[in-house]
Amino acid sequence: MERIEIKEKLKEAIQIWESKNYKIGFVATMGVLHEGHLELVRRSMLENDKTVCSIFVNPLQFNKKEDLDNYPNTLEKDFELLRKAGCHIVFTPEAEAFYDGVKIKKYDFGLLGTVMEAQYRPGHFEGVAAVVKELFLTVIPDKAYFGEKDFQQLAIIKWVVKLENIPVQIITCKTVRTESGLALSSRNLRLSVEGRMGASSIYDVLNFCRNNTSIFDPQAIVDMAISKLAQGFEVEYFEIADEETFERIENWEESKHPRAFVVVLLEGVRLIDNLSLNP
Ligand code: PAJ
Repeated sequence: MERIEIKEKLKEAIQIWESKNYKIGFVATMGVLHEGHLELVRRSMLENDKTVCSIFVNPLQFNKKEDLDNYPNTLEKDFELLRKAGCHIVFTPEAEAFYDGVKIKKYDFGLLGTVMEAQYRPGHFEGVAAVVKELFLTVIPDKAYFGEKDFQQLAIIKWVVKLENIPVQIITCKTVRTESGLALSSRNLRLSVEGRMGASSIYDVLNFCRNNTSIFDPQAIVDMAISKLAQGFEVEYFEIADEETFERIENWEESKHPRAFVVVLLEGVRLIDNLSLNP
């Protein structure tokens, strides 16, 4: 596995692959890799000739400086995991050089850009859009792999790809969880052992919602979910919305694809999850 830090060098390596007609898969990460990330890398390895993984803690997408400062870093371990997974290139740019000369666009994401993550993390998706677009223009992948855990981010990325006409296929990968159901996340490292155990109840509550859609209407489920979660967490939001339009659902008839979206805070750590409510 080769480590590349400079965009121009990466472009040169990509050009050689393209001249050989290799299919290129790409996985974007902020490091502190776990099985969730590695699933994306393995899938890319299976479906492409070459795989590039980026590790870049993108300053533009952090609306709180302390969140950026506290973001964990396990670079050497990450390289080892990627090497074992067979990844061909790991791209680890420096922020200043990466954004040098890049024009940051102001997008209007519509409803996607106002609800849930967009509401609670102002500016976050503008930062995600900027970094992912620039990464795509550098790697020019055939396929790029993203996790359902960040479901709204996935929708934003599909939106940018469509608007900017970027010829990449976005592949969605299921959320990888611990045995007890906690969605794997780099931020889980910041939880105590008890915190990590308690945090798996987020998944229990999501499943409670899925199992009760035939009994209760969406608002009643949201109320019950919030009161269950409030016993162990500070609830930032819990919403049931259509997974394509992101419109909040009042009646089940309004949506063929209802999904529950949640963010809670535990021990100062922000935990995000979501689950399809289709049986
Ligand atoms: P990061 O949180 O490192 O996640 C990188 C990718 O891994 C994202 O597509 C995310 O959805 C996926 N992922 C994380 N945890 C997962 C899990 N438990 N199961 C499945 N997939 C999981 O998301 C970002 O970084 C950044 O916003 C990024 C897209 C890299 C742009 O900076």
